[in-house]
This record gives sequence, structure tokens and C-alpha cells, in this order.
Amino acid sequence: MFSHLLVASAPALITLFRFCAARSWDYEPKSVTVSSSDEQKLRISFRVDRINRGEYALSGEIDWKYDVQDDTMIEILCYRSNSGGNDWKIMPWSIPYQKYEDFVNTFYKEMVTKSIGHCTNMPQYEKKYQPPWPKKLYVFDHCVVNGDGFPEHMVEGYYKVIINITGEVHWVLTFVLKVTSKLF
Ligand SMILES: *[C@@H]1O[C@H](CO)[C@@H](O)[C@H](O)[C@H]1NC(C)=O
Repeated sequence: MFSHLLVASAPALITLFRFCAARSWDYEPKSVTVSSSDEQKLRISFRVDRINRGEYALSGEIDWKYDVQDDTMIEILCYRSNSGGNDWKIMPWSIPYQKYEDFVNTFYKEMVTKSIGHCTNMPQYEKKYQPPWPKKLYVFDHCVVNGDGFPEHMVEGYYKVIINITGEVHWVLTFVLKVTSKLF
């Protein structure tokens, strides 16, 4: 995602999280993995449940116990691979490495309000976000990732989305999806 780096538009970010009804492709989540450099300060867990053919729900928790400071940075990277092996190539959809605060004021607002606001207690901001970022247990309860906002066509293959957050705690959320063409 970080083609190093085309700056993604907010719709492109939403794209990472939603899938669309008219699309010519299906996807299947292959994995969601998480890591945290300090579980006392940030504990994270996620899982994907299949709820229907081609429909999946994401559930998880982020127990956020540290203060977001100026050195808290985030980037979201997207890679594609033909085989899911080692041939990952960065894609021109990315959220470049930036201050968490700036991210919240731009991409985050769009993403959380429009895509997952109904299934999580992550904060929503109508106006400008002003620190501090609330430290609490964030829950994601069966967030349906149905493809709205994704491109109509996507090249078959494996896609990997990495949300990388650095600072006092370094934590990473990685999704791998397999995209196939739909048979009509
Ligand atoms: C996350 O960002 C840090 C700092 O730029 C970098 O060193 C690290 O390799 C990145 N991790 C991933 C998984 O991209």
C-alpha cells in the first residue's frame, strides 16, 4: 500500500474494508493475524467467521491502555501476490506513514463512520478529533465486510493488508484475502 507511496483517497481506504454487490469477484479471508510489542499496554485479538457464502464477519477486541502521543504513527499497506507465496508486490492503495492524530482526522473518520460504525465502539468524530485518544476496550462485533466500495473488478490472486502502528507500542494487524472471479 505504500507504494511508497501513492497517497490513497479516503474512498480507497474504505475500499480496503468493504466489498460491493455488483462486483465481478468473490473473496475469501485466508487469515487475520495480530501482534503487539507490549500486551500490558495493548492487547489485540481478531477472528473471521463465515456467515454465508461469500460473506464474512470480523470480530475482535483491542484493549487500548497507552496514551497516543506525537510519536504514535500508522501506515496501511496493501500487497498482491499470484500464489500467496513470497511474491508480494506493493499496490498503489496505501495510507502513508503518518501521525495517528492526522490519520484519525482523515481516513479514520470516513472508514469508521461509513463502514464499521454500527459494529464497534471505536470513537466517531463529526468534527475535528482532539486528543486525547480514549483508552478503553474496543470491541468489534461481527463487522460484515461485504465489499461495498471496492472496485468492480479485481485481479485474481491474494491480497494482504497490513495495518502497522508504531510508537510506545508497535502493533500490527494483517489480513490476507483470496480473490477469485465470480462465475455468472
Ligand atoms: C512498521 O513500521 C516500522 C517503522 O517504519 C517498520 O520498521 C516496520 O517494518 C513496519 N512493519 C511492517 C509489518 O510493515
